[in-house]
Amino acid sequence: MDHFSFVNGSLHAEGVSLASIASSVETPCFVYSTATLQDHIRKIQSAFADLDPLICFSVKCCPNLSILSLVAAEGCGMDVVSPGELQRALAAGVPPARIAYAGVGKSHAALTEAISMGVGCLNVESAEELELIARISTDLRTPVSLALRVNPDVDAGTHRHTTTGIRTTKFGVSSARAMELFDSMRDHPFARIEGVHLHIGSPVLKAERYGEALDVTLRLIEHLAHRGHTIRTLDLGGGFGADYQSGQSPTPSDYASVIVPRLQPLKKQGMKFILEPGRCIAANAGVLLLRVVRIKREAGKTFVICDAGMNALLRPSHYDAFHFMWPVRPPSQQIPLRRTAEPEFANLTRCDVVGPLCETGDYLALDRMLPAMQDGDLLAVFTAGAYGMSMASRYNAQPLPAEVLVRGNSASLVRRRESLTDLISHEMHATPVSA
Ligand SMILES: Cc1ncc(COP(=O)(O)O)c(C=O)c1O
Repeated sequence: MDHFSFVNGSLHAEGVSLASIASSVETPCFVYSTATLQDHIRKIQSAFADLDPLICFSVKCCPNLSILSLVAAEGCGMDVVSPGELQRALAAGVPPARIAYAGVGKSHAALTEAISMGVGCLNVESAEELELIARISTDLRTPVSLALRVNPDVDAGTHRHTTTGIRTTKFGVSSARAMELFDSMRDHPFARIEGVHLHIGSPVLKAERYGEALDVTLRLIEHLAHRGHTIRTLDLGGGFGADYQSGQSPTPSDYASVIVPRLQPLKKQGMKFILEPGRCIAANAGVLLLRVVRIKREAGKTFVICDAGMNALLRPSHYDAFHFMWPVRPPSQQIPLRRTAEPEFANLTRCDVVGPLCETGDYLALDRMLPAMQDGDLLAVFTAGAYGMSMASRYNAQPLPAEVLVRGNSASLVRRRESLTDLISHEMHATPVSA
């Protein structure tokens, strides 16, 4: 599953103890494992080998440049949704042709940049955006290859904030609208819709949901073919799950067993495929390392107050997400073999694990059974490599955490902790705004 394990009673990332990282880098910090990232990418590559897809790592889940470079070195392209993410993908050495660019609110400037540099696949979210793209590509006299995001109206069965494939969300267009748009662009000299894009949500813990979404999409592709349109690319989006608890998520092979047989006939006809996985690569490849600031006992409750909470990891409060967490050096009889919501050890204490922010929503876990802890102990929050640092904030003027990448027996700082000076550096000089 991943390369975080207890060695001689102390949690390690590969060959490096998290306690030693905390001593040199301090907390809060995210610690990533190179071997885990590589292992996850290779499993996806192998499971989907029959389709030979371009695997575009979803930058939004873990945008650190060192992680992106590592992922690119494994042969991945990138899925980006903003000029900032595009800049990161390019800085990591990914050529524009291996970039898929999505997002509902791409500005005129962002589209101009993407078209000018020739991103491999520009994903279109609406009729209105398509009209703008057609105008820009004509003005620039530059051809652009487009994939229209089609909303299959399939419920991914995930949190309402991350369900994207049902009709009433802001994403994509219906199959009926897609046919109109393909027809309307048939003879456009520059803007060519050559692909279909879908992304139904994240995490999608039932592989069959991809089957349902694909069945809708394949029917659309067949109708489009009857109307004389050639679909060269199918971008399936991301959404594969991660193990927030041991064994919780389908594996890449489980997803592939639903997806690959449906697409093999199209592969034989020359269709190209794109996958946009993020979470299933990065989530289990990272932990958030925290220090307990104080144990507070009040109103019959135990609060484990840590040096970061929702500012470093928003998922528990924003998505009601479960993250397994455990002391870095637990009592010897309480080394967990599985990451589960109900660890079976005697002498655990029911706790709320919270951060230091002035908000009741600032928690990482409520009513969680944990070994007894003391002020100064280290706590590891698992499966924090995706949508952790990328969603972190400076709320309450908290500096952003450090990031560390472990490879074998060595650990490198890949983003230094922000300083208090960093926090005010953009506000130190008032500049007149020209009217
Ligand atoms: C269009 C698109 N592609 C890919 C992803 C990545 O999803 P995941 O990290 O679950 O694989 C997302 C996530 O929101 C997305 O919106």
